[in-house]
Amino acid sequence: MLGHHYQRDEVIQFADVTGDSFKLARDAAARPEAEFIVFCGVHFMAESADILTADHQQVVLPDLAAGCSMADMARLAQVEDAWDALTAAGVADSVVPVTYMNSSADIKGFVGRHDGIVCTSSNAESALEWAFDQVPGSDAAAKVLFLPDQHLGRNTAVLELGLALDDCVVWNPLVPDGGVTPELLRDARMILWRGHCSVHGRFSPTVVDELRASIPDVKILVHPECTHEVVLEADLVGSTEFIIKTIEAAPAGSSWAIGTELNLVQRLAAAHPDKRIMFLDKSVCYCSTMNRIDLPHLVWTLESLAAGTVVNRIEVDPDTAHWAGVALQRMLDLPGRSHRD
Ligand code: 13P
Ligand code: SF4
Repeated sequence: MLGHHYQRDEVIQFADVTGDSFKLARDAAARPEAEFIVFCGVHFMAESADILTADHQQVVLPDLAAGCSMADMARLAQVEDAWDALTAAGVADSVVPVTYMNSSADIKGFVGRHDGIVCTSSNAESALEWAFDQVPGSDAAAKVLFLPDQHLGRNTAVLELGLALDDCVVWNPLVPDGGVTPELLRDARMILWRGHCSVHGRFSPTVVDELRASIPDVKILVHPECTHEVVLEADLVGSTEFIIKTIEAAPAGSSWAIGTELNLVQRLAAAHPDKRIMFLDKSVCYCSTMNRIDLPHLVWTLESLAAGTVVNRIEVDPDTAHWAGVALQRMLDLPGRSHRD
C-alpha cells in the first residue's frame, strides 16, 4: 500500500510507504515482489506505478473517481495541436517537452516520443536543466514546452534557472493558436501550458502579508504549485517531502504557515505540538479528489483482493506505457535531486 501525503488520516495510517509523487514512483518500481499495489493517491500516480512495475504486478486505485483537475487540463489532442503550431512556427526542433508527473499517461507518452522528460515538484530544476541541454548549439536556442502546470514551470524557470518572466509565454489550449503568435513562440524560452492546481491556486500574497503583520517571526513554507506571486513572498518552497523535512528540522517554538493541501498541514500540526503550525488560507481546502480515497473504498478494495477479485485495476496500454516509461525513466536517471526534495 502506497500513500501520498495528501491522503486522509484514516487511510494513510495503513500505508506501508508514504511519500510525495517522486518517492512513491520510485518505491513502486523498487518492489518487484509485490503482486498487488494499492495506490492511495490519484489516477495519474497509479498509472505511473503501473508503467514502472512489471507485467505480473497489478495496480489498484480504491476509487476510480480520484483524478486530478490539473492533469485533466492537458488532453493529448490539445497537446498535439500545440506541437503542430510549434512546427508551423519553425521551432519544434528546438523544443523539448517536459511534463509534470501530474499528467495522464497519454501525455507522458507524447513527451517520451518527442525526446522529453517527466518531472515532479522535487526535481523540476534538474529536469529543466536536462531539457535545455538536449538541444545542440547555443543554449539560448533551446526551448521547453512545460505541461500542464504553468506555476511549477514558471517558478522553476525564473527562481531556479534564472530565466526572466519575459522568457515565458502561456499557451492556452482553449483558444485558437493557444492565444500566442508565432513570433512569441520563436522568442520564448519557456512555453507554459495554461494549467494549474485549484488547491494551491487558492493561496494569496494578501494572506501572507496579513500573517507577517500579525506574527512577525512566522515562516511561510509553500509548494511550487502556488502562484508566482505567493512563491516570491515565501521563505521556503518545495515538494511535500521537503515541507515535511523542513518542519521536522524546525526548532521548538517556531511559527510556520504552510501553503499546501490541508490533510498534510493538519497532520504536521498534530505531530509537532511544540511548533506553531497553521494553514496559509482562511478557508478549509482539501484536495477533493485525493479525499475520494476513504476508509470504505479502501476496505472494499482490500476485501475484494482477499476474496480473489481485483477491483479498479489501473492498466496503461502497452504502446503508451512504453513511451511514458521512457520519459519516466529519464527522470529516475537524473543525477542527484534538488535541495528541495
Ligand atoms: P508532490 O507529491 O510532488 O509534492 O505533488 C503534490 C501534488 O499536488 C500531488 O498531486
Ligand atoms: Fe491535482 Fe492539485 Fe489535487 Fe495535487 S492537489 S492531486 S495537483 S488537484
